[in-house]
Amino acid sequence: MTAETSGTTSTTEQNRGGLEGVVAATTVLSKIEGTTGKLIYRGYNIHDLARSTSFEEIAYLLWYGKLPTKMELVDLKVQMLEERTLPTEVLQVLNDLPSTIAPMDALRTAVSAWGAMSVEGKPGIDQAIALTVRFPVFLAAFHRLRNGLEPLESHPELDYAANYLYLLSGQIPKEEHVKALNAYLVLLADHGMNASTFTARVVASTESDIASAVVAAVGALKGPLHGGAPSKVQDMLEAIGTQDRAEGWLRDALARGERLMGFGHRVYKTEDPRAEELRELARLADPQAFALARRVEELALALLQEQKPGRHLYTNVEFYSAVLLASVGLPGDLFTPTFAASRVAGWTAHILEQINNNRLIRPEAEYTGPTEMHFVPLGER
Ligand code: ACO
Repeated sequence: MTAETSGTTSTTEQNRGGLEGVVAATTVLSKIEGTTGKLIYRGYNIHDLARSTSFEEIAYLLWYGKLPTKMELVDLKVQMLEERTLPTEVLQVLNDLPSTIAPMDALRTAVSAWGAMSVEGKPGIDQAIALTVRFPVFLAAFHRLRNGLEPLESHPELDYAANYLYLLSGQIPKEEHVKALNAYLVLLADHGMNASTFTARVVASTESDIASAVVAAVGALKGPLHGGAPSKVQDMLEAIGTQDRAEGWLRDALARGERLMGFGHRVYKTEDPRAEELRELARLADPQAFALARRVEELALALLQEQKPGRHLYTNVEFYSAVLLASVGLPGDLFTPTFAASRVAGWTAHILEQINNNRLIRPEAEYTGPTEMHFVPLGER
C-alpha cells in the first residue's frame, strides 16, 4: 500500500518527509504504537519479555514464530554453540584492518568477508543463526586485536550475552552485568520498519544474499539519527560532568541548533517503552551515573517542551542505553555495534519474512529537474 492509496501523504510530501507514515511492508514480527508507547514482538509485550526472557528465546521467537519450549531452546543453543567460531579468513581480515578504525566499520567488513566465504543459496534460519552468533565473536575479536590481545574462543558454558562479555575481557562476567546486557539485547532485537530493517528488506527483495542485506543494515544503523546515538549520549553526559552544569550545557546546545541525543523518535510521540525498562536497569547498574543522567533527562525534557512545543519529544531507547552499556564495561565505540549484535536477530527475521513473500522493493522518485535542456557536445561547451 502506498501513502497515496491510503490517503496519508502526497508523493511530494513523502519525498520531503522521509517516508513518514508510509506503509512499506506487512510484518508479523513486531508492532509499535507510537501514541500509546507500546511495543510487541509477535504479540508479546516488550515489558514482559525484557523482564523474563533470554536473548536466545527472543531470537527463536522472531525466527520461528513462537516462544521455544525448554527442549527447543536447548537445541537452538547447541546450534549456536557450534556456529560461534571465528573463521580463519575473517580473523585475517580483522588482523589487516588498522586498529584505529571504528568497531562498527570492522564489524561491517567482517560480515562482508564472512558472507563472501560462507553464504550460499537462499536465506534460511540456519544462515540467520550462523550470522547472528558471529556478531559478538567478530566484535570481540576486533576489540582485542586493536588492544594488542589475541582473540579468545567462545566459552562453551556461557550464553549469548555472557559469552560476549567474556570474549571481550577474558573474565567470567558478573551475573548482574549479564542480566543487564541480556535485557538490553532483548529490548533492541526488533522494532518495526526502522531505517536499518527497511534497508535489509530492500536488499533481500532483490534476491541478494543474507550477508549483503545485513552489511547494508549495519551501514544504516551506524548513523547518529538511528543507532549511532548512544555514544553521543555518553559524550554529552561526560561533557556535562556534574548536575549543576546540565541546564546551561543543554540550553547552549539547543541555542546552537543541535539535537539532544537520546530524545525524539519518528514513531513514538510519547515515551519509548524501551526507555522505561532501560531507565530502571541503569538505575540498578550504576546509581551514580544514573543520578546525573536522570537530572539531564528531566532538564532536557523540560527544555524540549519549552523550545519545541508540539513536537512531542520524549526520551528514546538510546539515552539510557549509554548508561547501561557503560555500566557493564563497554567502551563508547562498542555501543552501536552491540546494538547491532541484538538487532541482527530482527534483521535476519525480516529478511526471511521478505523473501518468503517477496516482491522487489522498487519505489519511484518524483523528478523535479529540468526536462528540455539543449544538448551541447563536449568540445563546444
Ligand atoms: N533535539 C532537539 N530537537 C529535536 C530533536 C532532538 N533530539 N529531535 C527532533 N527535534 C526537533 C527538530 O529540530 C524539529 O524541529 P523543527 O520542526 O522546529 O525543525 C522537530 O523536532 C521534528 O524533527 P524531525 O527531524 O522532523 O523528526 P524526525 O521524526 O525526523 O526525527 C529523530 C526523529 C531523527 C530520532 C530525531 O528525534 C533526532 O534526531 N533525535 C536525536 C538523535 C537520536 O536520539 N537518535 C536515536 C533515535 S532512536 C533509534 O533510532 C534507535
